[in-house]
Amino acid sequence: MPEKPISAGKPPFYEATANECDLFQTAWDKRLPLLLKGPTGCGKTRFVAHMAARLGVPLYTVSCHDDLTASDLTGRYLLKGGETVWVDGPLTRAVRHGGICYLDEVVEARKDVTVVLHPLTDDRRLLPLERTGELLEAPDNFMLVVSYNPGYQNLLKQLKPSTRQRFLAVEFAFPEPAREAEVIVRETGIDPDGAMLLVRIATNIRRLKGIDLEEVVSTRLLVYCATLLMAGVDFDDALNAAVIEPLSDDADVKAGLREAVAILRS
Ligand SMILES: Nc1ncnc2c1ncn2[C@@H]1O[C@H](COP(=O)(O)OP(=O)(O)OP(=O)(O)O)[C@@H](O)[C@H]1O
Ligand SMILES: [Mg+2]
Repeated sequence: MPEKPISAGKPPFYEATANECDLFQTAWDKRLPLLLKGPTGCGKTRFVAHMAARLGVPLYTVSCHDDLTASDLTGRYLLKGGETVWVDGPLTRAVRHGGICYLDEVVEARKDVTVVLHPLTDDRRLLPLERTGELLEAPDNFMLVVSYNPGYQNLLKQLKPSTRQRFLAVEFAFPEPAREAEVIVRETGIDPDGAMLLVRIATNIRRLKGIDLEEVVSTRLLVYCATLLMAGVDFDDALNAAVIEPLSDDADVKAGLREAVAILRS
């Protein structure tokens, strides 16, 4: 069963990369659902947490996977002290009491999940609960946000047009260098020059053509790397553990990455 929602408090630090905060605010005001696309570790989850806290509403996050059923979102009858009681799932709780429901990696969800989302994401804003016979109308302070990483998509795992065309969509990319360095400084306390060196290394790796990488180095990995450096780990070891090894298992690719780093440091 779902854990408690993260309640609103001081918004976690989020460095905007474009107009995504304004767009989120408008989507909230106009009661429109939002889809976030972007590579791993570029700030999607942090962004949603930040906006939920700014708006002062609870955030219900669900990581979707191919075993996730519609009942995991809507709720189910459970045995409690000899009685069967209905327990709301995270989506139902957000609809019933207000809040943001965030479905991460939504393309992984099974078909029956998207069916539940359809009446909720058009102008009806309805959540039918077959099991309890209820038809819930989403309040003004309910919002649905979903995200996925287009890089992992395969043909079988695409959102149907009838689903994706129910959402406003924003594409996330890694922040421009000065902003990315600012993220690393704020997250780890590393000095700006140290952060900038990591960003330059990342920029070079992101540009590498012909190297067989499924995903390039993320802001998250740079934050990890700076965290190791701040803990006193040697530069090469930190880079190896936080950047090179997480990116590839292939010895040639790793050698290529190390070379790209060495050029920058020479
Ligand atoms: N714009 C940003 N502002 C603040 N922190 C950021 C930003 N982008 C990345 N980060 C840092 O990177 C980490 C990873 O970001 P986050 O978890 O939001 O990525 P994500 O896009 O949700 O990735 P995934 O697709 O793997 O879930 C954060 O914990 C934070 O330290
Ligand atoms: Mg995430």
